[in-house]
Amino acid sequence: MAKNKTVFVCQNCGTQSTKWIGKCNACNAWNTFQEEIIVSQKNTSLATNQYVSKPLLLSEIQVEQVVRINSGITELNGVLGGGIVPGSVLLLGGEPGVGKSTLLLQVAVALQKKVLYVSGEESPQQILLRAQRLKHQSEHCIILNETRVDAIILHAKDSMPELLIIDSVQTLKHPDIDSAPGTVSQIRETCNMLIEFAKQNHIPLLLIGHITKEGSIAGPKLLEHMVDVVLQFEGDMHYMYRILRSIKNRFGATSEIGVFEMMHYGLREVSNPSELLITRNKEELSGVAIAATMEGARPFFVEVQALVSTAAYGTPQRTVNGFDSKRVSMLLAIIEKRLGIKVYTKDVFVNIAGGIKVQDTATDLAIIAAILSSLFDIFIPGYVCFCGEVGLSGEVRSVSHIEKRVKESVKLGMKQVYIPTSDAAKQTFDAEIIPCSRIDTAFKRLFRSQQNDT
Ligand code: TYD
Ligand code: MG
Repeated sequence: MAKNKTVFVCQNCGTQSTKWIGKCNACNAWNTFQEEIIVSQKNTSLATNQYVSKPLLLSEIQVEQVVRINSGITELNGVLGGGIVPGSVLLLGGEPGVGKSTLLLQVAVALQKKVLYVSGEESPQQILLRAQRLKHQSEHCIILNETRVDAIILHAKDSMPELLIIDSVQTLKHPDIDSAPGTVSQIRETCNMLIEFAKQNHIPLLLIGHITKEGSIAGPKLLEHMVDVVLQFEGDMHYMYRILRSIKNRFGATSEIGVFEMMHYGLREVSNPSELLITRNKEELSGVAIAATMEGARPFFVEVQALVSTAAYGTPQRTVNGFDSKRVSMLLAIIEKRLGIKVYTKDVFVNIAGGIKVQDTATDLAIIAAILSSLFDIFIPGYVCFCGEVGLSGEVRSVSHIEKRVKESVKLGMKQVYIPTSDAAKQTFDAEIIPCSRIDTAFKRLFRSQQNDT
């Protein structure tokens, strides 16, 4: 019987200490040390003739044709770079209630192959209720309510599924480790066993992991190193849109995203998100501008809404949803300095419609357009869209993938596209292009009459 000893492990970064300490020296987190039992490893050194592994020259390695498994969900296939690689391990993280269990249950059902869905969180009855809401049903999906990792592996050996799903890694329990499920050593050891099983038997393994308040996957970063693919499921509880983002992918690029909408029958794939996010501005309201942004390699058109009103109390309010608020402050300073328009006495509210979060700096031009539109109370027609990064001196800077953005705008029925002059010179486009080199000249055309007054 191996002798067990205990150590204190930081639940945030996995640093070990022989005694309890209040603050982790490595990651500076407070109160993260917990006592855990570690199983001592037997010293098994290999004799020279016992080597099983064999080093190979790069040129000697045979190419294996990997046939990816179609997950049955096109958006997920896209994010993975073409489907699930046999024997790969995927970790899906996300906040509670975002739809992780729903997504993987949909995969289990859509696959129409033998799938073992292990849930430590919900009873088979609860899973059945969820499955009944989904549009499709499967004859081959086996549900197992179990948290002991050795029992899970025995069941998996018995049934030899074509896909193994674990909901969630925080509920898994190793028989030799006394600490509570969800702690570093439990997650590390249980996932190690599952990953070893998956790799040996070429069964793809999908793990669900909770995320912490700070937004990282609970448990050690170590888990993210152990798996092949890390996906994050994001979304605002108040909106139905969910975005699946790839953070790490050993078999493809991490630039693709998948968009879903939570419906009463589960998650619906949204293949053209721009169409959903843009509401045609029929009532001719001011303060709305359409931005041609990119999410990964995909054009993603969003509606920027702004409201500028006179500040009633001392310091004006600046409230931003869905975009970096510091960047909006910078854009306001640029408007002030480079256009000579006074905004320091105004409350400014900026919102990206639909609860979407945008990071692309090419949104700058649309944000300025929306702010000016609200300030002058001039409506921007729905067939106009903007893309361009704005620099501190008011210059409109070049953006990536300009052809894709313009092509998408044509598809969406846009007639005029404001783009940086440097990008406009590169090629010819199908839409009417309005080249912008500086913001003052760019907006003269749109807000001509009002600019003279201010
Ligand atoms: P769930 O997959 O349980 O989230 P997670 O596993 O990430 O914690 O689902 C979360 C929410 O989705 C739940 O609050 C109810 C909602 N939902 C729907 O709106 N429609 C549906 O068809 C399903 C299955 C869930
Ligand atoms: Mg769940």
